[in-house]
Amino acid sequence: MKNKHIVRHEGHVTAADRALLLGQLPATVWFTGLSGAGKSTLAFALEHRLVDIGRACYVLDGDNVRHGLNKNLGFSHEDRTENIRRIAEVAKLMNDAGLIVIAAFISPYLGDREMARQIIGEDKFIEIHVCTPLTICEERDTKGMYKMAKEGKIAAFTGVSAPYEPPFSAALTLDTSTLDIAACIGLITGVLSPHIDKRG
Ligand code: ADX
Repeated sequence: MKNKHIVRHEGHVTAADRALLLGQLPATVWFTGLSGAGKSTLAFALEHRLVDIGRACYVLDGDNVRHGLNKNLGFSHEDRTENIRRIAEVAKLMNDAGLIVIAAFISPYLGDREMARQIIGEDKFIEIHVCTPLTICEERDTKGMYKMAKEGKIAAFTGVSAPYEPPFSAALTLDTSTLDIAACIGLITGVLSPHIDKRG
């Protein structure tokens, strides 16, 4: 904190009250993986499924958040860390509001994801590694960015000229080149069941 003279003001309604109102246990599903691995596709498919069963959720997606909240950040290690720190703080607030958060960010550094886990809380942070191989992501090249990165037109591109550090112990590891979306969503909702099954 830049200023030490800031004291928290507690309200009368607790996080547990808000979660009870929505009938769910808030959590943050954190998708990590290469560009083109399928993180956003899975995130929005999961949102669709959760809304269908009456759960209150919200997707935080790298490409979208970088148009607003994080539009002043680039792709240096330092900027990516700040990107993840801000997202984790937003996810924490949304969880406090009772929502299930679905975050889709390359988040290539182990240390940054560990920071996100600490900010959000061990009990709420559900890490999912979308481990689709680089060769497949390059073939898909949905946004044409791998081609540009290889031509040297985009600096520090993850998987080409910047590193990706895979998780050691993700709750799930999903390869979208061998599993279809429905199968992936089935596995994810299984892991999420303590949070989304009807309570009381
Ligand atoms: S992160 O590394 O900081 O977590 P984030 O998920 O927010 O990345 O944004 C990734 C998206 O930004 C990619 O899907 C891609 O469309 C775009 N992008 C632009 N430049 C880069 C780059 N140098 N490395 C990776 N992705 C990039």
